[in-house]
Amino acid sequence: MALAAARARVLRALSPPHPLGQVLVAARRRCSEAGAPGALPPGGYRAWQEQAARDPAGFWADLARGWLRWDSPFHTACQPGRPAGTARWFLGGRLNVSVNCLDQHVEKSPNRVALIWERDEPDTAVHVTYRELLDLTCRLANTLKKYGIQKGDKVAIYMPVSPLSVASMLACARIGAVHSVVFAGFSAESLAGRIVDSGCKAVITYNQGVRGGRIIELKRTVDEAVKNCPSIKHVFVAQRTDNKVQMGDCDIPLEEEMTKAASVCTPESMDSEDMLFMLYTSGSTGKPKGIVHTQAGYLLYAALTHKYVFDYQQGDVFGCVADIGWITGHSYVVYGPLCNGATSVLFESTPLYPDPGRYWEVVQRLKINQFYAAPTAIRLLLNYGEEWVKKYDRSSLKTLGSVGEPINKEAWQWFYQVVGEGRCTLVDTWWQTETGGICIAPRPSEEKAEIVPAMAMRPFFGIVPVLMDENGKVIEGNDVSGALCIAQPWPGMARTIYGDHQRFVDVYFRAYPGYYFTGDGAYRTKQGYYQITGRTDDVINISGHRLGTAEIEDAMADHPEVPETAVIGYPHKIKGEGAFAFVVLKEQVAHVDRVKEELKTIVASKIAKYAVPDHILVVKRLPKTRSGKIMRRLLRKVVTEQSNNMGDVTTLDDPSVVKEILDAYQKYKEKSSS
Ligand code: WT7
Repeated sequence: MALAAARARVLRALSPPHPLGQVLVAARRRCSEAGAPGALPPGGYRAWQEQAARDPAGFWADLARGWLRWDSPFHTACQPGRPAGTARWFLGGRLNVSVNCLDQHVEKSPNRVALIWERDEPDTAVHVTYRELLDLTCRLANTLKKYGIQKGDKVAIYMPVSPLSVASMLACARIGAVHSVVFAGFSAESLAGRIVDSGCKAVITYNQGVRGGRIIELKRTVDEAVKNCPSIKHVFVAQRTDNKVQMGDCDIPLEEEMTKAASVCTPESMDSEDMLFMLYTSGSTGKPKGIVHTQAGYLLYAALTHKYVFDYQQGDVFGCVADIGWITGHSYVVYGPLCNGATSVLFESTPLYPDPGRYWEVVQRLKINQFYAAPTAIRLLLNYGEEWVKKYDRSSLKTLGSVGEPINKEAWQWFYQVVGEGRCTLVDTWWQTETGGICIAPRPSEEKAEIVPAMAMRPFFGIVPVLMDENGKVIEGNDVSGALCIAQPWPGMARTIYGDHQRFVDVYFRAYPGYYFTGDGAYRTKQGYYQITGRTDDVINISGHRLGTAEIEDAMADHPEVPETAVIGYPHKIKGEGAFAFVVLKEQVAHVDRVKEELKTIVASKIAKYAVPDHILVVKRLPKTRSGKIMRRLLRKVVTEQSNNMGDVTTLDDPSVVKEILDAYQKYKEKSSS
């Protein structure tokens, strides 16, 4: 019933309903004839959205046939799974993702540029054609095979963006291995944890990385990590710099092997539902979880959203500046753009290197048409003033995109007016590692429909958002807020958490049976648009990077003199959120400052530098309920300075703790401002 109501709402929001019929049929035909991005037909958004909500299996089946190249066709488009709300897609179909991303384009236009590697060193971009990328991928795939990597094996990729990193992902896809890209900013311990959890047989890395003019010791970190990873048989080491690094027995010089390898590699024919990759992300409890995406559904969803959310046209240069260590890099640097035969930019540098004009200099030099970035970078650049932007010609830009965290109005306006000169479409895109691709974004929409600043607004085709109240009931009507759920499955959604399907079910499908629960809250406006209001759990978002506060607490718990901690997110001007830690020390600890420094080092080495709390406040005790639960809500009130409005504190074990913490906070503030 609730699902029917949710669908009905999507259809109502599309009113006046567009008559299905010729338009839709023509659209489908066009897309299957071309087998590549075509234009959405007039009125198409409404018609497609309507069909996708009413008949998801039929809608996606048609698109999957037209958009992807299959070795053998699927017999069942969508098979609902258990628990309700899950599904498997395109059953019986076989295909190879690398063939879809490479071979099919090489046949038609081998010399089209697939990747532009904007290296850290300004003005040294490297162009890689589809033919060259296929060559690299095949050689890399053959090298992996030579060292025993087979279909189903797991391979960790610990590399910043580069053509070889993309080729590594595609090489895995070619031979049916499963990649697990680990962001190259993660510590050895984080890398090791991920390798052990997924049982990776090999790591692919660089000798060193280069970012913002600084060297990053990637190989050294891998060495440290694999000491504790018995599953690792080989480490493939590519050369990003000329510096020599220590090579051990299981280390293999990658390029050297690739020159010896054959440049042709027969693609493995994969089942639609075989694993394509896993990517670790943080939850509100426990260790990071390996989110699993499969072949066909993921690829189709990434490609389709890339095409329609950004209005990608053949020949455009697509500039998503995310790292491949995050889902944004997977879907909108690699799989979506390459499946669509696009030219995709790989941005290795930082927004401030060598100066705050870097993004816009790159836009001018590479003639970027779609520019997709995180609000944190926009907020940072905004502080340096408009001159850095205006210095460069941005007339190539057509679409701007924002991703990963809420974008505040000021940043949105600056991005729109200053960067986009008020003439580009700016889309705030909401999605998650688990959703595979963009789920809520202003485009596509009815032609010329307005975009409300700083709002994700509209569900993509086939996404049926619902808001839930505290009792697990669907909230009807507009101008309402609730927990954001999605009422029916879509092809891009995650299939499981690697090695822990029960956790997958518990985290995403238990709170609201039959619905995918996102962990975010949202507000549905009077017009029926969606505005994301932020996480409803203990997940925080630092510079667009997701982290569980529990992870930081667990790391700090390793300090022998720190029996207890509580970490919360607090609003940060540039980073969006920062981590604020409350810590309790053992009574006899004298060197408080030393302990604080040690805590920071522990967090950096156990997780990553970006996870280090900005503030560490020592308190005598934490606010706890009588049943022993830490009341984080109170701590949030303290640091956001809303202590006049503490809410209900009657369940506190000892209410006097509130004043104690407030006093400590006041002192800390006075000390840090003096
Ligand atoms: C979480 C997902 C989306 C890919 C990169 C991050 C937050 C994401 C938005 C947005 C407000 C957003 C949510 C979400 N988030 N996009 N446009 N507006 N919040 O993927 O690391 O899996 O994080 O990022 O809280 O749940 P992720």
